[in-house]
Amino acid sequence: MPTQPPWWQRTTTYQIYPRSFLDTNGDGIGDLPGVIAKLDYLQALGVETLWLSPFFESPQADFGYDISDHFAIAAEYGSLADVRALIAQAHARGLKIVLDMVLNHTSAQHPWFVASQRGRDDPQRDWYIWRDGRAPDGRAPPNNWRSMLGGSGWHFDPRSGQWYFASFLPFQPDLNYRNPAVKAAMLDVVRHWFREGVDGLRLDIFNAIFKDASFADNPFSWRVMPSEANPHGFFQRHVHTIDHPDTLAFARELRTVVDEFVDPPRFLVGEVFGDAATLKRYCGEAADGLHLVFLFETLRTRLNGPAVRALITGFERAFPPPFSPTWVFGNHDRPRAIHRVHGHPERAKLLAALQLTVRGVPFLYYGEEIGMVNHEMPLHEGLDPVAARFRRMPPPLVGWFRRHGILLNRDECRSPMQWHGGPNAGFTPPTATPWLPLQRGATTTNVAAQERDPDSLLWCYRQLLALRRAEPALQAGALTWLDDLGLPGDVVAFRRTLAGDPRPTADVFLNFGDRDVPLELPEPAGRTLVSTLRPAPLPAPHTYTLRAHEAVVLVAAP
Ligand code: GLC
Repeated sequence: MPTQPPWWQRTTTYQIYPRSFLDTNGDGIGDLPGVIAKLDYLQALGVETLWLSPFFESPQADFGYDISDHFAIAAEYGSLADVRALIAQAHARGLKIVLDMVLNHTSAQHPWFVASQRGRDDPQRDWYIWRDGRAPDGRAPPNNWRSMLGGSGWHFDPRSGQWYFASFLPFQPDLNYRNPAVKAAMLDVVRHWFREGVDGLRLDIFNAIFKDASFADNPFSWRVMPSEANPHGFFQRHVHTIDHPDTLAFARELRTVVDEFVDPPRFLVGEVFGDAATLKRYCGEAADGLHLVFLFETLRTRLNGPAVRALITGFERAFPPPFSPTWVFGNHDRPRAIHRVHGHPERAKLLAALQLTVRGVPFLYYGEEIGMVNHEMPLHEGLDPVAARFRRMPPPLVGWFRRHGILLNRDECRSPMQWHGGPNAGFTPPTATPWLPLQRGATTTNVAAQERDPDSLLWCYRQLLALRRAEPALQAGALTWLDDLGLPGDVVAFRRTLAGDPRPTADVFLNFGDRDVPLELPEPAGRTLVSTLRPAPLPAPHTYTLRAHEAVVLVAAP
């Protein structure tokens, strides 16, 4: 038997935005006991690893991505006892827990920044990135570095007459990792949570950790908008502020810390941006950096046969074993996945089949399994601080960004989970007011309704996740193309092979076209066919008509 790939390469991950999952105490805000209450649901769904967006102490100006105490839990989400119960109860069910770790910055209300802001002589001044402004009077920012949202990343502090740097929003000052005390303190945070038993960390804007010590201006570029493949934009190449060589070295250093925890092994997944080659560098030449990085190219690829095939080919080339690609179609910053297929239910199933059968680690986002849509609302109604920043943008432009995968009001993809068709969709008690409005469609699009309907998207996810759990080839097998079947370009067909396994192959056919395609199935004898358009598997026939938007998987009969 070949050695098994590590668990984190075989797993399926489900992202929970705790604020929007389930509210158990009636304050309109989802909480950790709510997550615990839904562990049975998650287990039945069939996901294996749960990633929770931050629930640490925070003023919640960016809903938890502005941490003011990495060791304490924000009261609205629960307590440390709840986190421990969550970890224990998840583990008892064989589920893993991944926390969201914001290493790059803290809240401006973190005691470290409060101290740092006291004045130039404060011992913690150097924990953040402070500089004098440009001459003659220092009232111009120290250099041209921009925030990831556009505009200067420097913010003037009238008390000391200096400027501090923030890669994201002004209330999220960047830590200074060139100060060894900062690095040690943050590695301490990482170790602390691993000691508490978490199985992995998702690293927020990891590409921004180190800024260049020269503080030289970023070079000019004609690029206006950053994209998935190229994060440069706003008329500069961010060479001194993102993807710095010291950040890549830090990825390897962090890996050595994670490797201190062996039973069970833990993992890191980085939020980084850029083309596959850039992203791969975070994983280390010798696979000695971050275990995984998000590959957001999935969010902008056209969903037709040739484009999907090109995407898989690119990922396979950049992330051959022992590396592993990741597959993401949505998260708490991005438009809901169902919009990629214009709300088409069968194509949503096809997208799920792609994500759950291709080589790589799938990351599902809560509500995706029932086809929750974006909750569109005017920008000025957004609670999201990014919406506040772009408040004055004209609605047609907001729509243009949304269609291109950028949400200026991220509330739209964070609306409360739709558990049933009753009051408040079961997210919060009927008398409570949910922190974000529920979608009108919740009366029809919800877990309870889809549990009753064997043709639903939810059942399709359950079936695919069960199949993946049962078939080691789908979890860890190599991917080769089924090219000799003469199929049209609309059909993406591949074989997953895990040599030495008793269930060594799975063949996958994904029809991205609008037409039915007749198929000669390879080696049908003794195999079972599972389809996204049929509730029950059937013995594999010799010939099969693959319907428009249908996905089928052929595996050895049980
Ligand atoms: C990441 C998070 C996003 C957050 C930002 C600042 O991009 O995904 O939600 O606002 O970092 O921490």
